[in-house]
Amino acid sequence: MTDKSKVVKELFENTALYLTYDYNLQIRKETVETFTSGMNFTNVLDIPSGTGAISIPLLNRAEKLTLIDISSNMLAIAKKNIPENYLSKTEIINADFFELNLPENSYDLIICLGLLAHVNSPEQLINKIVSLLKPDGIFIIQNTDASHSYSYLIRLYLRLKNLIHKQSYSLNKVTDSFIKNKLQSTDLELIKSYRYNQSFLGFSNLFSNEKKYKLTRNFFGDATNPKNQSLGSDYTYLFKKKS
Ligand SMILES: C[S@@+](CC[C@H](N)C(=O)[O-])C[C@H]1O[C@@H](n2cnc3c(N)ncnc32)[C@H](O)[C@@H]1O
Repeated sequence: MTDKSKVVKELFENTALYLTYDYNLQIRKETVETFTSGMNFTNVLDIPSGTGAISIPLLNRAEKLTLIDISSNMLAIAKKNIPENYLSKTEIINADFFELNLPENSYDLIICLGLLAHVNSPEQLINKIVSLLKPDGIFIIQNTDASHSYSYLIRLYLRLKNLIHKQSYSLNKVTDSFIKNKLQSTDLELIKSYRYNQSFLGFSNLFSNEKKYKLTRNFFGDATNPKNQSLGSDYTYLFKKKS
């Protein structure tokens, strides 16, 4: 395991730190539901699965689901979330994704939300995922566009916050154009995207998760009826691999 992976693992073994912002998880889950509506899958990969909240609801439309996460505590929650009758078609792997030898061209849906910001190399991550995807397979990936004006505001806010509470962990800065160029050069076609803002800057503690969910939906709509998309820095994309 690389030093970066060890740090990330330690960070996410504390599940509460991430799950406090569960309105964001709800938005991600609904976006994936909308993007895949009416589709059935043979082999689904959720990397990183976290608690499985995003992909477990797809089990009634999938023959097999593989959940991978480096955090054993996230996967312990995922295991409890899987309905008893679906346990036999769910595989849970607690490992660093980059150390796994998974079968190439074998998944018809790969979901990758919340990982690009935490890996050593976003390019290596995308190359590996694309190699695992079947021709005609679907790839749903999330990224916060580092070149969006709202991302500059977030970074300014974090820098100010850092003056008071020193934090050593920093997120990768990946742009929208990097994602689009990289995936289009590996023979994937962009089908759709949904955008919103994940951060309430310094105002997050003023609102409950329920309130933040409602404010986000009122302003940005949802993946079926999106609004104000150019103001959203956080993208969830749906790409399709050419046959
Ligand atoms: C921000 S959470 C996202 C979880 C879920 N996909 C979601 O959208 O809510 C990031 C997750 O990535 C996992 N992770 C980070 N690096 C990883 C790696 N190299 N291999 C597997 N999992 C990793 C962490 O343990 C954590 O659960």
